[in-house]
Amino acid sequence: MTSAHDIASLTFRSTAAETLKGEARVPGDKSISHRSIMLGSLAEGMTEVTGFLQGEDSLNTLRCFRAMGVEISEPVDGRVTIHGVGLHGLAAPKAPLYVGNSGTSMRLMAGILAGQRFDSVLQGDASLSKRPMKRVVDPLLQMGARIESGAEGRSPLKIHGGQALRAIDYHMPMASAQVKSCVLLAGLYAQGPTCVTEPAPTRDHTERMLEGFGVAVGRTDSRVCLDQLDPADRRLRAAPLEVPADISSAAFFLVAASILPGSNILLTHVGLNPTRTGVIDILLAMGADIRIENRRTVGGEPVADLRVKNADLTGIEIDEALVPLAIDEFPVIFVAAACAHGRTVLTGAEELRVKESDRIAVMADGLSRLGIDATPTEDGMVIEGRGEPKPFGSATINAQGDHRIAMAFAVAGLKARGEVTVHDCQFVETSFPGFAELFNRLGGCLELSRH
Ligand code: S3P
Repeated sequence: MTSAHDIASLTFRSTAAETLKGEARVPGDKSISHRSIMLGSLAEGMTEVTGFLQGEDSLNTLRCFRAMGVEISEPVDGRVTIHGVGLHGLAAPKAPLYVGNSGTSMRLMAGILAGQRFDSVLQGDASLSKRPMKRVVDPLLQMGARIESGAEGRSPLKIHGGQALRAIDYHMPMASAQVKSCVLLAGLYAQGPTCVTEPAPTRDHTERMLEGFGVAVGRTDSRVCLDQLDPADRRLRAAPLEVPADISSAAFFLVAASILPGSNILLTHVGLNPTRTGVIDILLAMGADIRIENRRTVGGEPVADLRVKNADLTGIEIDEALVPLAIDEFPVIFVAAACAHGRTVLTGAEELRVKESDRIAVMADGLSRLGIDATPTEDGMVIEGRGEPKPFGSATINAQGDHRIAMAFAVAGLKARGEVTVHDCQFVETSFPGFAELFNRLGGCLELSRH
């Protein structure tokens, strides 16, 4: 079994660049790519996917469904064909299902596997084995699933099949699209109408894709309910899927072009689902020059091109309502805050502590090493922006195996007085294959070494 853990450790060395120029389409949306494999496998008929993210995380989801007997073509240039087996057509895997670094794979698949007739085991890498899974195990147990987990509900998860699931009306204790999606996917196999109420809006790709596959989904602002069909009568119908470019990957270039004088770039075909656009709202509130051009809808998801030019940024108090809508983008938003004039305050973001790393602690530590006054708080950070041409010094930072930390500090290097050296960057492959090449093509100075 290969994973980013098995490949050589990767170090980034990022130094100051003049300006960013050019046009790029960043890789496909990770959240939508995972869901395309999951729902395409459970559908009846053939699902053709374009724009699929060929990153380690979504490839792990693909491998897991192959291990359950689904015929899925080898992705080429983002094209994948899935021969759906229907809701009840998955086969028992012969070995534990390995999802690597991917929390989305584990949490969403737990919902699907809870409804199967066979037993299965979900296993991740060392980092994922430390992340909280009780948040999905708890509602699944309430639905009648049988799951064994490690201490505090951590993985590996041993899921016993053959349970008759019952619908629940679940009020999520945290704003999590993964938990919501897990319950909805288990709900496909449950008797009665499964409902989830969320404390704040979270990404709704599962709901949109279910609708696209012909499942009736009732939605109000904070509540989503599946229909009450008997699970034996429920059908997902295959439909073509076009995955837009990932706004979470585009975010590194939104910030990079914003902070670097003279920059002017165009990011094409970016997914602008309103549950994902917090990073744009936050950067605009800081004074960024981001224009949304050529808005269109592709496969049920809004898409547009983003023109980004350099601008003078000012520190802000980030609106807590935007936090779940920008949850993956904070590492690079912190870099923007360090470059801005004045103080930026983030609160209400304690979820950052349980991502691929503790993103509050790791970012505050790295920024401090680079000479920035960054104070971590329980649920956020206070950053004193320096508003200088080169606010960052030079330092060696460990990305702690977190792809988004690695890329955020590569962006910081664009405005460093020396070199920003970032160790443990190999996990960039999980979400953004080709990051370094694109970074350099647009004008960055990033050197890579493998050990
Ligand atoms: C995701 C939801 C978010 C996000 C993750 C992907 C998804 O996690 O951080 O990268 O695809 O549903 P939470 O739901 O835990 O906030």
